Amino acid sequence: MKFFVDTADVGEIRSLAEAGLVDGVTTNPSLVARTGRRMAEVIAEICSITPGPVSAEVTATDLEGMLAEGRHLRGIAPNVAVKVPLTEAGLRACRTLAGEGAQVNVTLCFSPAQALLAAKAGAAFVSPFVGRLDDVATDGMRLIADIVTIFRNYPHLRTEVLVASVRHPMHLVEAARLGAHVATLPPAVIRQLLKHPLTDRGLDAFLADWKKTGQSIL
Ligand code: E4P
Repeated sequence: MKFFVDTADVGEIRSLAEAGLVDGVTTNPSLVARTGRRMAEVIAEICSITPGPVSAEVTATDLEGMLAEGRHLRGIAPNVAVKVPLTEAGLRACRTLAGEGAQVNVTLCFSPAQALLAAKAGAAFVSPFVGRLDDVATDGMRLIADIVTIFRNYPHLRTEVLVASVRHPMHLVEAARLGAHVATLPPAVIRQLLKHPLTDRGLDAFLADWKKTGQSIL
């Protein structure tokens, strides 16, 4: 399973990349806005940190605008994946940009039918949002299970299921159990994955016992 980092914070991305935990990055207009920087500059910097796909989202809502922005974003670096919303214009833009050789991430997916449409439009990734579904008392993981099952029924569909809007470690564990290809994780969730109180307690005990021996390994 690939781990993408869901942030536009280059400091966080750099540190996680150094730890070998970054297979790609996803951004959205809200995450870029939070940096206070220009989108092109932030995306270029992120693309220089990781060779994996870096999703950069269009903000136009009409087809011509999406195509113009998508082509511009793609020109920033070879590893940019153009992100488009799951609207009719977005699907048309996906088909055209994918035909031009772009990796396209179709975002804001909330139903299995939408995911199938994204795959038929040639998306490299489709992003179902689990956390935002959970927020409205709908089982986000059920959506992942449905999409994974449907895509497995049609192996010619090459679209990867990119689990988005991840809020906690169990979202990741469940997504992996279901066989989703990718999860995009906020940096805080990646750090939570690492932590276990029994690891900390076990290490403390080993070190306390070792100290009593007076030995040193070197
Ligand atoms: C990633 O591609 C999405 O934009 C992101 O995961 C949305 O997460 P949120 O629902 O926590 O804003």
